[in-house]
Amino acid sequence: MQPTSVARLGVLGSGAGSNFVAIAEACAAGRIPARVVLVLSDVEHAGILVRARERGIPARYIPPGPFRTKLDEEAERAYVRALQEAGVEYVVLAGFMRVLKSVFLRAFEGRIVNIHPSLLPSFPGLAAWRQAWEYGVKVTGCTVHFVDAGVDSGPIIGQQVVPVLDDDTPETLLERIHQAEHELYPRCLAALVRGELVLQGRRVLWRGARPEQETRTGDRPGG
Ligand code: GAR
Repeated sequence: MQPTSVARLGVLGSGAGSNFVAIAEACAAGRIPARVVLVLSDVEHAGILVRARERGIPARYIPPGPFRTKLDEEAERAYVRALQEAGVEYVVLAGFMRVLKSVFLRAFEGRIVNIHPSLLPSFPGLAAWRQAWEYGVKVTGCTVHFVDAGVDSGPIIGQQVVPVLDDDTPETLLERIHQAEHELYPRCLAALVRGELVLQGRRVLWRGARPEQETRTGDRPGG
């Protein structure tokens, strides 16, 4: 049986699920005192659902309704119901490509987090790594933040820097951002579920050990 102190996470994603895998592995290794009890997706054949089922974690596709960038209200209620029935305490967005509205936000107020592939508030929205590469910034990275009613606008929990190299393409840059995400997200979630984060206005203060703010010095996968 799981000890009662283990937090119950619900993960929502629309894509491949590499962040979900990093989180599930960190939970299994005891680096996050939590377990993923449910994975939901708005994309019927999303990789994240396959990867969850491979690990024996309940995973469901819930149709998002007619809109492209949000869930309709009925769908939001279905997502909330599924998460509540699974006893989810924290909602973890891992590549979920729709904004959440009031029904959802009210149900899990202060307990929804997201990861975004840029150093917010720079480059919110879609394909943030490509926006950064096209803009010509020299450093970018990833951000874990609480979710509020805006787009990628909630209080920032943690950030990790990734340098943009002269010979980067958007794809090589994204690969290194993903590596950084897989380190940053588990560290932030561990602090969250341990109750080590304190919100002061927009500022999130770390009462426990702060994540190392690693500046990756241009290291490449395998290099
Ligand atoms: C991640 O890079 C995440 O930051 C991004 O989607 C990717 C999901 O990859 N999220 C957003 O852009 C949200 N605005 P994954 O499915 O392999 O975890």
